[in-house]
Amino acid sequence: MKRAVYPGSFDPVTFGHLDVIRRAADIFDVLIVSVLNNKEKSPLFSVEERVKILEEATKDIPNVQIDSFSGLLIDYAREKNLHVAVRGLRAITDFEYELQIAQTNRKLSNGNLDTMFLTTSLEYAYLSSSSVKEIASFGGDVSQCVPDFVAKKIYQKYGIIK
Ligand code: PNS
Repeated sequence: MKRAVYPGSFDPVTFGHLDVIRRAADIFDVLIVSVLNNKEKSPLFSVEERVKILEEATKDIPNVQIDSFSGLLIDYAREKNLHVAVRGLRAITDFEYELQIAQTNRKLSNGNLDTMFLTTSLEYAYLSSSSVKEIASFGGDVSQCVPDFVAKKIYQKYGIIK
């Protein structure tokens, strides 16, 4: 059984993430999408909310499971017996950061955690959770960026009635 973890902040999940999730779920038997509980960042959505949003957004993909983790990815991966992390690359600007994380994880895990990159589909290459939140916070249209139910939840957070 080939299993992989797709870690991330997912604050909130975008069509770009969902594109990577769908494609990774086609490659692996089980894909665990795991939300990082990052105490340093001040997220718009709590971990519980992000998990619920991901569950709803991926409910039609049977081999996707949603989870969350704190601390180091390598420790989580070891506990869950996972050896592949999936990450999306939108542009060359993502590469340096992602390469550093991937090399660090491989080194720290003594080769037990490898990273597989999927290039985000071009139509989503411009998308980021941060820009979605910024657009929505000014009442802008994010319907091309996130599923409708997610857009509603973001507007609610900013007190915007649509
Ligand atoms: O969606 P993001 O915020 O780009 O995801 C970043 C993530 C969660 C993949 C990365 O920050 C991570 O794995 N953090 C957990 C802490 C860790 O393992 N750090 C060591 C890598 S240098």
